Amino acid sequence: MDVLTALSNKSDYSKNQLQLIVGAWILGSLVEKKAKISLTNGDVAEEDYDKGSLYSLLYALYRSMGDVRDEHGKRYEFTFNTWGYTWPEAWGPSPTKSSMPERYGQNAYAGLYHFKEVQEYVAARDGKVHVIEMGCGTGAGANWVCGSVLPKCTYEAIDMQIAGIKTCQRKFVPNHNGRLKATHSDATRLSIPDGAADFVAVNETHVTEYAGVVTAEDERFFKTAHRLLKPGGYLVWGNAIPDATWKPCFAFLESIGMKVEEECDVTAEAVKARDEDKARIDTYVDQCIEAFHAFKIPRLGGKRRLQAEIALKNFARNPGTNLYDNMVNRTDTYKVVRVRKTP
Ligand SMILES: C[S@@+](CC[C@H](N)C(=O)[O-])C[C@H]1O[C@@H](n2cnc3c(N)ncnc32)[C@H](O)[C@@H]1O
Repeated sequence: MDVLTALSNKSDYSKNQLQLIVGAWILGSLVEKKAKISLTNGDVAEEDYDKGSLYSLLYALYRSMGDVRDEHGKRYEFTFNTWGYTWPEAWGPSPTKSSMPERYGQNAYAGLYHFKEVQEYVAARDGKVHVIEMGCGTGAGANWVCGSVLPKCTYEAIDMQIAGIKTCQRKFVPNHNGRLKATHSDATRLSIPDGAADFVAVNETHVTEYAGVVTAEDERFFKTAHRLLKPGGYLVWGNAIPDATWKPCFAFLESIGMKVEEECDVTAEAVKARDEDKARIDTYVDQCIEAFHAFKIPRLGGKRRLQAEIALKNFARNPGTNLYDNMVNRTDTYKVVRVRKTP
């Protein structure tokens, strides 16, 4: 069993199923010709994994772990699948406190709406704006925005992973009196009518990953964002992606009737967040490894344990991993951008 490619985005695996899947992955190391996960820095080549399988595994893992401890012993459920960043001083007072375990993810979502023009747009509608999020994960960010950032908005959160959407429906939708809806769909194949959204939010959604190119999926993604927006509405987009990919993405957006009005580079703040978050991520990974019995199988279990540890840390861009180094040397840059659909 190859957990990087074999799992389905239409399944929400139970803890028992995950135990079996991890066991099968460990036994699979007997026949693996070449390790896909680098033990040096956790790198996995793009062609060696499928994002449907990867996030299916991660969201089932987050849910099955339930409440975990942060590095100070505070209990929380790991739900933000977000690197995020420390709040830039130039943006004014921070919306989060140091006691909040997932504050960097919360900053990233609040940051999508920090722009003066966005705040004016919201104020002009007395806060009653409609947001569509493409790639919401578990909906942790949607919950934070509905509760604290845009407390009068309505919000449709969309992800291709049923496991993430089920977490949103269980944990977050009930908090908002019908204002938050969670939808399981590929965000490029939505039947939502044209012009439904004041804002399309894209936060660290796993698209635009290939250096220097806009793929066919990326094009479909941006065309959908354009279609969903009201004229004059905003695409608010934050992510750490290959630096060489921003320019072609902006050119494509401009070619379909969008104007890239503002871009903020928060790469330094994103690196700082990963430094400050390292102890929490290390503590989380330890708890995950401890929860899966098959890692205790002599020899084979130990080998896969090291791979699982470094891979989880790499996906979190923890210091010492490939994805962290990519931000430090600016192969990947983290930007927050405001793009307007031509009124
Ligand atoms: C790194 S996670 C970020 C999730 C969430 N935005 C957050 O910040 O916690 C990337 C997400 O993008 C989603 N995704 C990627 N391509 C997608 C698509 N075409 N349609 C819907 N979701 C997609 C994945 O399923 C995954 O949940």
